[in-house]
Amino acid sequence: MPEAPFPPAVNEAVRALLARASVPPRQLHDPAPDAAALSLAVAAATRAPDHGGLRPWRFVGIQGEARAAFGELLARAMQARAPETPEARLDLERLKPLRSPLVVAAGATIRAHPKIPAWEQEATAAAGIMNFLNALDAMGFGCCWLSSAALQDPAIKGALGFAETDRLLGWIYVGTPEAGRPRPERPAPDGFWRDWQPA
Ligand SMILES: Cc1cc2nc3c(=O)[nH]c(=O)nc-3n(C[C@H](O)[C@H](O)[C@H](O)COP(=O)(O)O)c2cc1C
Repeated sequence: MPEAPFPPAVNEAVRALLARASVPPRQLHDPAPDAAALSLAVAAATRAPDHGGLRPWRFVGIQGEARAAFGELLARAMQARAPETPEARLDLERLKPLRSPLVVAAGATIRAHPKIPAWEQEATAAAGIMNFLNALDAMGFGCCWLSSAALQDPAIKGALGFAETDRLLGWIYVGTPEAGRPRPERPAPDGFWRDWQPA
């Protein structure tokens, strides 16, 4: 395992991977990536390993005025799941998509397949989401991958065009970071690797 500082042989692509960091949604502002940048990020997603070529990656962008309408949908779905939810909590849910200029609902279409179980298709989609984040981060945008109970809500999945059998894997908040990229402390790689030896 190379120790930081990394040897000169570490190229730009690896440097970009090592510098990536999430940016909190409220620190993300206009401009959001344009169609060309998003297309590159989706293309990066489709480079994820994909057993059987099932292509499970799905990204649904919610931006501009659609964010407020989606927030309303999130609040109504939350109320339907838990009718006693206080109005203040519903308001929080309603305002969530407005924190960043772009929210991406990232999911996986899951097909019944004799050899490729759902978890492999989810792994491919999740690997694609990571490529999507890395590509946007490398282009100077900021991202944050969040979850919430709404990911499991059939009403939300349906409104976004996902089937009941599909999986919504996250809300990706995207924009331009107000103060560059955070530089959180990262763990040393050594603790995550060991060589196996025969007994
Ligand atoms: C599937 C998934 C769901 C996540 N959901 C949340 C979440 O709901 N809230 C949260 O604070 N972080 C969540 N995270 C973690 C953040 O995306 C992020 O990784 C974390 O803030 C640490 O920042 P870093 O990516 O720079 O290490 C989630 C990550 C993944 C992969």
